[in-house]
Amino acid sequence: MDVVVAGSHGFIGSALVADLLARGHDVRRLVRPGSAARRRSPAPAAGSPTAGSPAAGSTAASPAAGSTAGSPAAGSTAAGSTRGPGVVARGTVVDLPWDPYAGDLSPAALEGADAVVNLAGAGIGDRRWTPAYRREILRSRVATTGLLARTLASLDEPGVLVQSTGIGAYGNRGDETLTETSSRGDDFLADVVKAWESAAEPAAEAGVRVAHLRSGIVLAPRGGALGRLLPLIRLGLGGPLGSGRQWWPWITLPDELAVFRYAIEHPLAGPVNTVAPDLATNAQVVRAVARALHRPAVLPVPRIALRVAVGQFADDLLRSQRAVPAVLEAAGFRWEHPTLESAARWVAEG
Ligand SMILES: NC(=O)c1ccc[n+]([C@@H]2O[C@H](COP(=O)([O-])OP(=O)(O)OC[C@H]3O[C@@H](n4cnc5c(N)ncnc54)[C@H](OP(=O)(O)O)[C@@H]3O)[C@@H](O)[C@H]2O)c1
Repeated sequence: MDVVVAGSHGFIGSALVADLLARGHDVRRLVRPGSAARRRSPAPAAGSPTAGSPAAGSTAASPAAGSTAGSPAAGSTAAGSTRGPGVVARGTVVDLPWDPYAGDLSPAALEGADAVVNLAGAGIGDRRWTPAYRREILRSRVATTGLLARTLASLDEPGVLVQSTGIGAYGNRGDETLTETSSRGDDFLADVVKAWESAAEPAAEAGVRVAHLRSGIVLAPRGGALGRLLPLIRLGLGGPLGSGRQWWPWITLPDELAVFRYAIEHPLAGPVNTVAPDLATNAQVVRAVARALHRPAVLPVPRIALRVAVGQFADDLLRSQRAVPAVLEAAGFRWEHPTLESAARWVAEG
C-alpha cells in the first residue's frame, strides 16, 4: 500500500509509520513548517510493532525532511533493502511539505495513495488549557482535517481518509454503554470532536470513504497518558485516579495501529470506537498494570497529583466513558490484546 500520514511525528504517528514501513508499505509523511521533523532528519521511531512484525530489528528509512512539493517522487525518498540473514520487507518513505494553517497542500501529494491517515493535532496532554490553547487544540484539528478533506475531494479518484478522533466525542457519561450510535457529549472535547469530524464532510460528500477512529486511551510502555503515569505506578504510588470508578476506554498501541491498517483495508466508514472489548474502570486498569509490574497500587492519586503528572489532560482521564467497540466487533476485527490482563502484561514487558 501507499499511505499518506499527517501528524506522523507524534506518539501514534511515529509508531504507525514504522509499522507500515516494516510491513513493506510505502509512506508519504506530510511535514508542517516549523515541525520538529523539519529541524532534524527523523528516522521513524521503532514504535511498538506487533509481535512477529518484521519491524523487529529493522530500521526504517530516514529521508531528509522538507522536500519539494508536487509529485511524491519529488520528495526525498529512501528505498527498502534487505537486512540480516532473513529478507526484511521494507517500504519507502517520502516527506512532503504542507501548511495546514495556510491551506497549502499540493493535490499531487495525495494523488494515487491508497489512503490518507490523519493524526495531526496540537497535543491534548501537553500544556495547560488556557483559552488560547483550547483554540489551538480545535483549530489544529479542523484546519488539518479540512485541508485534507478538500484536497481529497478535488481528486479524480475518490480515496480513503482514516481520521483519528477521540472517544471524548461522548463526554462524561457515567455507567452508560456507549456505541457509535450514542449521542455526543457537550463538553469541550466533545465539541472539538464534533467540529473535527465535521471538517471531513467535504471528502465524504465527494465519495471519499471516511472512517473516524474514535480512539480510547492508547496504552504503551512509553508515551501517551500511561507512559506518564508509569513512573508513579513503578514507585507504588499509582492507585486509582480520583474515585477510580470511571470507565476508561483503553486500547494498546499495537492494536491501535492494527485498527488503522484494518480501516485502510476494510470498508469501515463513519465513527469507529477504537477501544478494546474488555471494559474496565481506571482503578482496574491501574491495578492491572501495577500487578503486572509487581508493584502495589493502593494509594489513590488525587486530581491535583494527576494534574502535575499529565496536565489538564487529568480532567479527561477522570471522565467516565463506557465505550464498546461495536463497529469493530461487527466487522470481525481481532485484537492482539483483547483483555486488560494481556495488555498490562505487554506494557510491563515493554
Ligand atoms: N494518544 C492517545 O491516547 C489518543 C487517544 C485518543 C485520540 N488521540 C488523537 O490521535 C491523534 C494522534 O495522537 P498522538 O498521541 O500521536 O498525538 P501527539 O503525539 O501529540 O502527535 C500529534 C501530531 O500532530 C501534529 N501537530 C502538533 N501540533 C500541531 C498543530 N498545531 N497543527 C497541526 N498539526 C500538529 C504533530 O505532527 P507533525 O509534526 O508530523 O505534523 C504531532 O506529532 C491526536 O489528534 C490525538 O488527539 C490520541
